[in-house]
Amino acid sequence: MIIRQANESDWADIYPFFRLIVSEGTTYAFPEGLSLEDARPWWMEHSPGTTVVAVEDSSIVGSAKMGPNRPGRGSHVATASFMVDPTHQGSGVGLALGHYVIDWARAAGYRSIQFNAVVATNHAAVRLWERLGFSILATVPKAFDHPEHGLVGLHVMFLEL
Ligand SMILES: CC(C)(COP(=O)(O)OP(=O)(O)OC[C@H]1O[C@@H](n2cnc3c(N)ncnc32)[C@H](O)[C@@H]1OP(=O)(O)O)[C@@H](O)C(=O)NCCC(=O)NCCS
Repeated sequence: MIIRQANESDWADIYPFFRLIVSEGTTYAFPEGLSLEDARPWWMEHSPGTTVVAVEDSSIVGSAKMGPNRPGRGSHVATASFMVDPTHQGSGVGLALGHYVIDWARAAGYRSIQFNAVVATNHAAVRLWERLGFSILATVPKAFDHPEHGLVGLHVMFLEL
């Protein structure tokens, strides 16, 4: 598997699993049912941020986007989001993308990385981020309307670089 910078034509290959993950409604508070073109700006970042794809056997199996968490005087803190095609989850793609994002943020001179909204019931993600060194700073109570569990917390997770 390689991780490389996404180009605009990759979006058509990311969109099917983006749409599926968003429509499951368990991990992201993105608008649901967006068309290919309406969803594009929710994932495809522009400088100083970037979007990357994980490619295995010439197929895109996952993607991450990263960039400053806030503009101006908050721009030394990075943030990122991750999606792995459900048919490829659990095989190390998310771990590789996580390492990539940490290396990217460090090389770009960011001081830390903040994840703003990790759904508390998303145990796969929480465990993965903790394994990469992130800790839960706080949990915003009842901030995510989960289709099965009802109102659940959103973790703010943080890694100092
Ligand atoms: C969360 C996500 C990015 C992880 O990517 P992945 O490729 O499935 O994860 P990996 O295969 O790299 O797993 C690495 C670690 O994640 C954790 N993990 C992955 N799947 C898990 C599961 N089903 N249950 C518990 N932990 C899990 C484990 O710590 C695992 O380490 P292990 O191999 O020692 O068990 C991916 O599952 C995904 O895209 N989920 C939907 C969208 C999402 O939740 N994005 C993150 C929002 S914060």
